[in-house]
Amino acid sequence: MIRFFTAGESHGPGLVIIVEGIPAGLTLDEDYIEVQLGRRQKGYGRGGRMLIEQDHATIISGVRHGRTLGSPIGMTMENKDWVNWQQSMSITEVENKPDYDPEDARSQRVTRIRPGHADLPGAIKYGFDDVRNVLERASARETAARVAAGAVAIRLLEEFGITMHSHVISIGGVSAEIPESIDWQAVEESPVRCADPEAAARMMTEIDSAKEAGDTVGGTVEVIAENVPIGLGSHVHWDRKIDGLVAQALMSINAVKFVSVGPGSEVVEWRGSQVHDVIEPVTDLDHPWQRKTNRLGGTEGGMTNGMPLVARFGIKPIATMVNPLPSVDLDTGERVQAHFERSDVCQVPPAGVIGESMMALVLANAFAEKFGGDSVEEMRRNYQGYLKTTGPRKLYR
Ligand SMILES: Cc1cc2nc3c(=O)[nH]c(=O)nc-3n(C[C@H](O)[C@H](O)[C@H](O)COP(=O)(O)O)c2cc1C
Repeated sequence: MIRFFTAGESHGPGLVIIVEGIPAGLTLDEDYIEVQLGRRQKGYGRGGRMLIEQDHATIISGVRHGRTLGSPIGMTMENKDWVNWQQSMSITEVENKPDYDPEDARSQRVTRIRPGHADLPGAIKYGFDDVRNVLERASARETAARVAAGAVAIRLLEEFGITMHSHVISIGGVSAEIPESIDWQAVEESPVRCADPEAAARMMTEIDSAKEAGDTVGGTVEVIAENVPIGLGSHVHWDRKIDGLVAQALMSINAVKFVSVGPGSEVVEWRGSQVHDVIEPVTDLDHPWQRKTNRLGGTEGGMTNGMPLVARFGIKPIATMVNPLPSVDLDTGERVQAHFERSDVCQVPPAGVIGESMMALVLANAFAEKFGGDSVEEMRRNYQGYLKTTGPRKLYR
C-alpha cells in the first residue's frame, strides 16, 4: 500500500512528510521534488509568502545513492518564515505568553473568527481560546507537503509511462475554451496555468479587479493522467472504486467545493447516446479497446478503462479578505470584523499542481495494489505480464 502522512504548522519550524510503500530501486532525488514544489509556488494572484518560501524538501530516509530502498521515505521542509514566528509558535512554554507582548502583533491571540475557515469549528471542537491553534494546521501551507509526497508518486508513475498534467478552466466566472490538444509547455508558462491565452488575460484582469476591491476569486481546474492502464480500482467494494478515491483525494484539498470525474455536471444534462464513449474494434493489440471520445473521464464501474483519467474540481474564493466580512469575537460572541492575515487573492493556479499530486498518490496506490512487487523491477515484470493479457479474450483460450 502506498500512503503518506504530513505534519507541520504553517508558521512552525517546518513540515514533515513520510511516504510509505514505494518499491525499492526507483531513482529519486531532491531536485526532482523541487521542480514540483516550484510549480506549486507560481501563479498570478498569490500573496507575499511565495516570495519568502522557495520550498525545498530534504530527504532524510528511504533513499540511498539516488535510489529508493523500499523503506519509508522521510522528508523535511523548512518554513523560511519561522524566524519571525519563534515566540508566537514556540514549541516550548514562553515567558511572554502570546497576548502579553504588545510589540509583537504575531503574539496576540486570534479571536476574531474568519467565516469560511476552520477557525470556529476547530476552536470549539478542540476547546481552544486562540484560533491560531487551529489556523496554523488548517492553512494550505500543508499542501506543500502533499506536493512533496505527490512528487514521489509522480516519479513512480512516470517509470510506467503514466504522466500527470493540470490546467485552469475558469477563474472568477471567466471560462477557457479548451483546445482539442493542449500544449502543456504553454500551460506551464501561463501565469494562470490556462491553455487559452485570451481567457488567461481576462482571468488576470478579474484577479486584479478583485484585488483592487479587497476581494478574492475562485475557479475550476482539470487534472489529467495519461497512459493509465485499464483495470486500476475495482467494482467489488465502494471503497476500492477509483473514481470515489480520486474524488475524496481532490475534495480534501483546502477550499475545494466540488469534484467531478470527466466534465461531470455537464453530462447529466445530455442524453445517454451523447454521453457514453463508444468502444472501437480492436486493431492494435498494444492499444486495445480505444475510444474516440472520453466524456466519462476514463472510468467505468469504479475502474480505469484505458482512457486518460480526467477529473475536475472547483475551489471557492479565498475566505481571508483585505475587506473582511463581519464576524464575531470568540471570547465575547460580539460583532467584530474578521481577522486578516497575509493572504492570496486567487489560489486556483497552484491548486492544479496540488490536484496532480493527490491524483498521482491515488493512482500510485492503485497501481501498487494491482501489480505489487517490492522492487520497481518486480513491479515492471508484473505490469508487463498483465499487459500481455489485456487483448480480446479469444487470444488466450
Ligand atoms: C494553494 C492554496 C492556497 C490557499 N491560500 C489561502 C490564503 O492565502 N488565504 C486564505 O484565507 N485561504 C487560502 N486557501 C484556502 C483555505 O486554506 C481554505 O479555504 C480553508 O482552509 C477552509 O477550508 P474549506 O474551504 O475547505 O472548508 C488556500 C487554498 C489553497 C488550495
